[in-house]
Amino acid sequence: MKKKVLIFGVTGQDGSYLSEFLIKKKYIVHGVKRRSSSFNTSRIDNLYEKYSKKGMLYLHYGDVTDSLNIQSLIQKIRPDEIYNLAAQSHVKVSFETPEYTANADAIGTLRILESIKNVNKKIRFYQASTSEMFGNTKAPQNELSNFSPVSPYGTSKLFSYWITKNYRDAYGIFASNGILFNHESPLRGETFVTRKITMQVAKYFISGKCNLVLGNLNALRDWGDARDYVEGMWKMLQLKTPKDYVLATGKSYSIKSFLEEAFKVIGVRVKWKGKGLNIRGYDLVNNKLLVSVNKKYYRPNEVNHLCGDARQARRDLKWKPKISFKQMISDMVRNDIENYQKT
Ligand code: NAP
Ligand code: GDD
Repeated sequence: MKKKVLIFGVTGQDGSYLSEFLIKKKYIVHGVKRRSSSFNTSRIDNLYEKYSKKGMLYLHYGDVTDSLNIQSLIQKIRPDEIYNLAAQSHVKVSFETPEYTANADAIGTLRILESIKNVNKKIRFYQASTSEMFGNTKAPQNELSNFSPVSPYGTSKLFSYWITKNYRDAYGIFASNGILFNHESPLRGETFVTRKITMQVAKYFISGKCNLVLGNLNALRDWGDARDYVEGMWKMLQLKTPKDYVLATGKSYSIKSFLEEAFKVIGVRVKWKGKGLNIRGYDLVNNKLLVSVNKKYYRPNEVNHLCGDARQARRDLKWKPKISFKQMISDMVRNDIENYQKT
């Protein structure tokens, strides 16, 4: 009998890579997509086309703010494993939609766990926890570091982290938190800083025009590649006993460094002038303006420095990132150039 998996958040960056990974592992994948007035399945359309007719991938309408929907999906599908990747995942947006963010990112997890408790306590559960829960706790951060979130997103995710532990301890459910540091890819959402940058770099390469306007360029992030991280999620659910794990590369870079590296992919070097809100980046060779800063992209609170210590995952899961920072950026820029050429 093939194992069945249910993925909330299947249409997102990680949902797409995780589906592909699990199909290759011979799972039957059931994914939950939201009803939307425009198409929202572009990241999984190719998988759907290839695998739905073979009975390897099914999509269902649903929403983690809807308990009845969650309960009936779990009852109907009877999965062996559930991955909760569904979230309003944008930190800045969480300051503008705090109540919705808490409903989806905090209570959504509780709804799924409560359904698992009611339907079948043997279902294994993965919760997409995040390095944002550490806030400004000193780097490097690991499983023992203090949590101190500074956004509605981070705070909602911390509720989910704890409720996942609570259900594990109280009801014996196999439930694990993956505390994942930033991970990117060619499928990254277009409003996250890395993708925002690589899309503009591609535009500059093709058209000679670039209008990149960013916020805080000095924050430091530990950026890995999503394709490595979905494997770590799966590995967590294959252990004998459930436990929480940090997945990270252990190296962090500023937004400025990411940007310089992305321009290097197309052979452009960036020259910086000015400071703070007046900082500007120019093409070293022709002096064209490439990047400026606008206050509107700053957050009311910032997480300044994330750098993960994933030694526990390395030891127990035999997990380590394979794709380097430079390779990941190169893949993202090249993919955006291809996309740009198609339009
Ligand atoms: P993403 O691309 O933003 O995908 C989020 C997914 O959740 C999408 O499929 C989205 O659907 C869905 N979703 C949003 N609200 C929902 C709701 N109310 N009900 C059901 N589905 C809903 O995020 P990602 O980068 O793949 O990240 C996956 C998960 O890991 C998220 O929970 C995120 O918070 C967490 N995480 C991400 C990172 C990272 O660096 N990528 C790091 C740590 C943790 P639509 O497509 O319809 O919007
Ligand atoms: N999005 C965005 N847009 N961020 C900007 C910009 C901009 O124009 N300019 C500067 N930044 C800075 C942000 O202030 C932040 O310090 C950093 O770039 C990264 O921002 P995001 O790419 O939006 O990611 P994030 O670190 O806030 O959150 C991501 O990683 C978390 C894990 O640490 C998301 O994927 C979260 O869902 C995830 O939990």
